[in-house]
Amino acid sequence: MANLKKTTLKKAFKAALAKASSAYPSRPGPLAQPPAGSGLQPVMGEPGPPVLGSALEMINDPLKVTMERYRKYGGVTWGRSIGMNLVTLVGPAEVEAAWMNKEKAFSSEQGWEPMIGPFFRRGIMLMDFEEHMYHRRIMQQAFTPARLRGYLGIMTPHIEKALSNWDAGSNGDARIGFPVYSRVKDLALTLATEVFMGAAVTEQEAHRLESSFEAAVRGGQALIRSDIKIGTWARGLRGREALQEYFRAEIAARRAGTGDDLFTVLCHTESDQGETFTDEDVVNHMIFVMMAAHDTSTIALSMLVYHLGRNPQWQERLRAESLALGKAAIDYEDIDKLPGLELALKETLRINAPVGMLFRKTVRDTDILGKFIPEGTLVAINPWATMLLDEWWPNPSAWDPERFSPERREDKVHRFAWAPFGGGAHKCIGLYFAGMEIKAIMHQMLLQFEWSVPDDYRLNLTYGTGPTPADGLPVDFTRR
Ligand code: HEM
Repeated sequence: MANLKKTTLKKAFKAALAKASSAYPSRPGPLAQPPAGSGLQPVMGEPGPPVLGSALEMINDPLKVTMERYRKYGGVTWGRSIGMNLVTLVGPAEVEAAWMNKEKAFSSEQGWEPMIGPFFRRGIMLMDFEEHMYHRRIMQQAFTPARLRGYLGIMTPHIEKALSNWDAGSNGDARIGFPVYSRVKDLALTLATEVFMGAAVTEQEAHRLESSFEAAVRGGQALIRSDIKIGTWARGLRGREALQEYFRAEIAARRAGTGDDLFTVLCHTESDQGETFTDEDVVNHMIFVMMAAHDTSTIALSMLVYHLGRNPQWQERLRAESLALGKAAIDYEDIDKLPGLELALKETLRINAPVGMLFRKTVRDTDILGKFIPEGTLVAINPWATMLLDEWWPNPSAWDPERFSPERREDKVHRFAWAPFGGGAHKCIGLYFAGMEIKAIMHQMLLQFEWSVPDDYRLNLTYGTGPTPADGLPVDFTRR
């Protein structure tokens, strides 16, 4: 409750600041003049208010700011945020050009560094080109069907145990305001600890690691971005140090071990060419993958619960599908046997993209669809806004899973119209893992619970790189 009050106050404060700063006149203009004779156009946009630029408006309601700019200036626009120019890309062709990165002009390492560098440096997303491909070839071997089957085997009993402890009421005694987001977050973190680190972790250690990890993830969202010994940034750095210390100390045992957990797998995994990870690589990749897997799956699953609470006919349809499977928990072979759940998940990822913005920096002068972007420019690729454009999606704000049905396939308009997992060299390596985890949890939830969202409930989202429910996402839950 105290937390909710704090979050609401923080939100109101940010909204007031955003309103005040949006009152400043902002002069539109070109980002930079293209070289004479190049035939390129300048990127148009506006700097926003002095000093902070549009930073506060972006924190408060990033989608609104992005859509307004898109309507004014098109799919390639620029703005200013905390003293930096930021080019934003919205639209399937615009995001495709940056993801495909044909001229190797966009660096993922340099784009993500200012956002999360100190906490996740040397993670695979913070690498580029040849080096990135080298690491990706090795890491890919940790996400083969055989490996995923092993991870599901580890997950299943932990999902059963966690759901049996969810204190929703028994029949007719709904728990009003069951905090779905918080519970799903705890569950996802437990699963990550078990699947990624393995059973060798004691409960106490797991708890300590989870807090360190949580601090490292939050670090990237700090407003005051320096190590002043207290605050979100500093806690993030201490979290990173604790994680490093743990993984380094454990590595020899895992190299000697044979477990199915990701930590042990990364110690042994080898590309087709026989390439392997060093100890430091394993440490860096572990810390990064835990982050990449955690908030994303939590947001996707929580928002799916929310939409199914709002749309009881869909919840019933998915429950019938799960009942028809005739099993308390899914096996690896069942992942493709829940087609309704697949549609509902796709639609949720479209409306509430867990990773709304991806960052790059240009390492040479380049262009996106004929718009000139000079070297050294920070670029935000925005799949979230892209998936909500009414030029590409009929009635984009409606949650309508049937739009992905074989009869409609509205995503077929462009291969990057639906792209919650990104594209190109850095496309999410965990997308099958994510689908498997979400389906495994949702199947058990549908069999064990019914839930609804009160008619007068309004979503209260805050934004990091994606949407996060500020109030724990209260849903009325009943055990079946
Ligand atoms: C619904 C859940 C998820 C969503 C929406 C999501 C989304 C994304 C996106 C958009 C990227 C591209 C980032 C960029 O281009 O800058 C990405 C990269 C990545 N994701 Fe996911 N992700 C999810 C779950 C997971 C899971 C469960 C794992 C691991 C088990 C994972 C591991 C990774 C890794 C390692 C990368 C970096 C790949 C590279 O740089 O080569 N993700 N993810």
